Amino acid sequence: MSFDRKIKIAPSILSADFANFGAEIRAIEAEGADWVHVDVMDGHFVPNLTFGPMAVKAFRPHVKTVMDVHLMIAPVDPYIDAYADAGADVLTAHVEAGPHIHRTLQAIRGAGMKAGVALNPGTPAEAVAHLLDLTDLICVMTVNPGFGGQKFIDMTAKIARLREMIGDRPVHIEIDGGVDPKTAPLVAQAGADVLVAGSAVFRGGSVDNPGVYGQNIAEIRAAAEGVWA
Ligand code: DX5
Ligand code: ZN
Repeated sequence: MSFDRKIKIAPSILSADFANFGAEIRAIEAEGADWVHVDVMDGHFVPNLTFGPMAVKAFRPHVKTVMDVHLMIAPVDPYIDAYADAGADVLTAHVEAGPHIHRTLQAIRGAGMKAGVALNPGTPAEAVAHLLDLTDLICVMTVNPGFGGQKFIDMTAKIARLREMIGDRPVHIEIDGGVDPKTAPLVAQAGADVLVAGSAVFRGGSVDNPGVYGQNIAEIRAAAEGVWA
C-alpha cells in the first residue's frame, strides 16, 4: 500500500447485506471501490454492535484492495493483535477511546499495520498534534459514530487545519459519515483524500444489480475530483 493523494472511495460494508458479505465485497471492488471500510462497534464506545475479529478474518479473502478497519471500541489495546491476525491493512482507533492513544498507535504499527487515528465531531484537530509522526491516516468523523445514514456535519475547517498541521508528511485524511456527491467536494477541497461512504454507495443496488454501486461510486469520485478541475 503505497502513499498517494488521489481520491480514494472506501465503501462501508455497514450498509451492505449482512447475510452476504463476501459477494458484497467482491461487487463493490469490481465496481471501482479503492478500499473496503469495516466498522467495528462494541456497544460501549458507541451504541451499536457489529464485527469481532473472527468476522473480519472471514472478510479478508474477499478483499483484494485495502481492508480499512475502523475500531469504535474501548479499550483498543487488548484487540490489536486479533485484528492484525484478521488481516487488517489499516487499523484506526479513536483518540477518545482511552488515555494512551500514543501507545496504541505504536502498538498498531508494531503489529505490522498502518495506524489510523479517528476524531469525533466534538474533538479538535489539536488532539492529534503530537501524533502526526505516529500515524498514517487521520479519520475525521462527520457524524457521531454508531450508525450509517446520518446527516453530514460540516467539519471542513477541522480538515483544512489538519492538512496544514500534516504538512509534507505522508498522512491520509479520511472522512467518515454522510459522504455523498454533494458533500464530497467540500471535504476534498478542504484536504481529504479517502472518502468513506456507506449509504451513498449501497443505495439502490444489490449483488444482482451491482452496476448501481459502480454508478454511485463514480458519482462520488467525480464530484470530489471536480474540485481540482
Ligand atoms: C459510522 C461509521 C461509518 C458509516 C458511514 O459510525 O463509522 O463508516 O458506515 O455511513 P454513511 O456513509 O451512511 O454515513
Ligand atoms: Zn467508519
